[in-house]
Amino acid sequence: MQDHLTVVEHPLVQHKLTLMRKDTTSTAVFRQLLKEISMLLAYEITRELETCQTAIRTPLTQTTAPALAGKKLALISILRAGNGLLDGVLELIPSARVGFIGLYRDEQTLEPVEYYFKVPTELQDRLVIVLDPMLATGNSIVAAVSRIKQAGAVRIRALCLLAAPEGVKRMKSAHPDVPIVTASLDEQLNDIGYILPGLGDAGDRMFGTK
Ligand code: URA
Repeated sequence: MQDHLTVVEHPLVQHKLTLMRKDTTSTAVFRQLLKEISMLLAYEITRELETCQTAIRTPLTQTTAPALAGKKLALISILRAGNGLLDGVLELIPSARVGFIGLYRDEQTLEPVEYYFKVPTELQDRLVIVLDPMLATGNSIVAAVSRIKQAGAVRIRALCLLAAPEGVKRMKSAHPDVPIVTASLDEQLNDIGYILPGLGDAGDRMFGTK
């Protein structure tokens, strides 16, 4: 993947995102749309997975055909909103390994603090996709990617439903080697770090907490 930022302009993605943004969209519909859109984003982010030719038999003949090569990829969800992307991505890539990272913001230092970390083994040999629906300030994803690199990952991509220019800039300076795939580059952050026009609090909207 060559570009640092890929915005998936496909009409189905854009239509589903518009429905998700609307404040009248129910939790159940929001969750269903998130699942569908995450499958489409996963399709894009895995476009360059390596394949190798394998020998198979069809009902008619022997042939060789491509299959995915290398170790199973790893999906790492940043809790809790990353879990909303997990269902759809796993539906498309059911054999992926899954990890979780939990971070909270220390109110004094404003720095992200890790409270949970459990990831698949042999990260160095896997394509690692970090799941975080809202790339806002970028503080948590930058910290999560640093931690995942510390655990051995070398080939990492970020899958985000929405991105703010501020977060993209921060990721580009902290982790220029991590391409981002998103459905939209929105306009800006508001003064409390929410993405505009955005869709509100992604966690609250997908889990119905508010
Ligand atoms: N997290 C969210 O859930 N929404 C935003 O707009 C920004 C961060």
